[in-house]
Amino acid sequence: MEVIVCKTAEEASRLAATLITDALQTTPALVLGLATGSTPLLLYRELIKACQSGADFSRVRTFNLDEYCGLPPEHPHSYRTFMNAHLFSNLNIRPENTHVPDGTADNLPALCAAYEAAIAAAGGIDIQVLGIGSNGHIGFNEPGSPLDSRTRRVTLTEQTLRDNTRFFSAREEVPRYAISMGVGTILEAKKCVLLGFGANKARAIKAAIEGPVSPDSPASALQVHRDTVVFLDEAAAAKLQ
Ligand code: PGA
Repeated sequence: MEVIVCKTAEEASRLAATLITDALQTTPALVLGLATGSTPLLLYRELIKACQSGADFSRVRTFNLDEYCGLPPEHPHSYRTFMNAHLFSNLNIRPENTHVPDGTADNLPALCAAYEAAIAAAGGIDIQVLGIGSNGHIGFNEPGSPLDSRTRRVTLTEQTLRDNTRFFSAREEVPRYAISMGVGTILEAKKCVLLGFGANKARAIKAAIEGPVSPDSPASALQVHRDTVVFLDEAAAAKLQ
């Protein structure tokens, strides 16, 4: 793991965006793994700026980490809607090249297998963008997720339901289940870029970087990944030795 501590989330996001746009120059058909939540928003803003300045996303393929079960793609709180609003609709990316699991599929095991197959058919993920939950989750791989897990239906923890209530009007509206790429799926990405911002991530970041590799901290699995860069602001890095 390479750990880069920046003064601010803005600076860290700019560096992460440059890493992606540099890769895009050498690999126009880049395969990106993408995340939702507050953390990647500044990165996405930088990618949109890069596109406006000429970066070409027309051949890029994307695969999102997760989606809530039960929310149709057009639901205002679905991750598909989030991605369209905060990134895809502002890039010259082809909508058919963007993939978010369908949380309303009838046959979830078949959907999950097809998602894994689509990633493989694209040649695997070149760069996987990750946030981290306050409980150490990556994607919706909650503590206890096997480190070799694959795309599957997961049950969200109380902590995650609490954390994500801010995106909904009431706690009861947060779906209790989601489809998530597994930790094993994430570890197959050629490069992982983990972003961690703010004091409420400091404990999870310490466990991920300095703790043992353990399902208790799913992000700690990145310690055994061959090419992971962690971009932190000072607040998220505050508990590191
Ligand atoms: P956040 O979520 O970016 O909204 O803090 C991160 C995550 O849960 O992975």
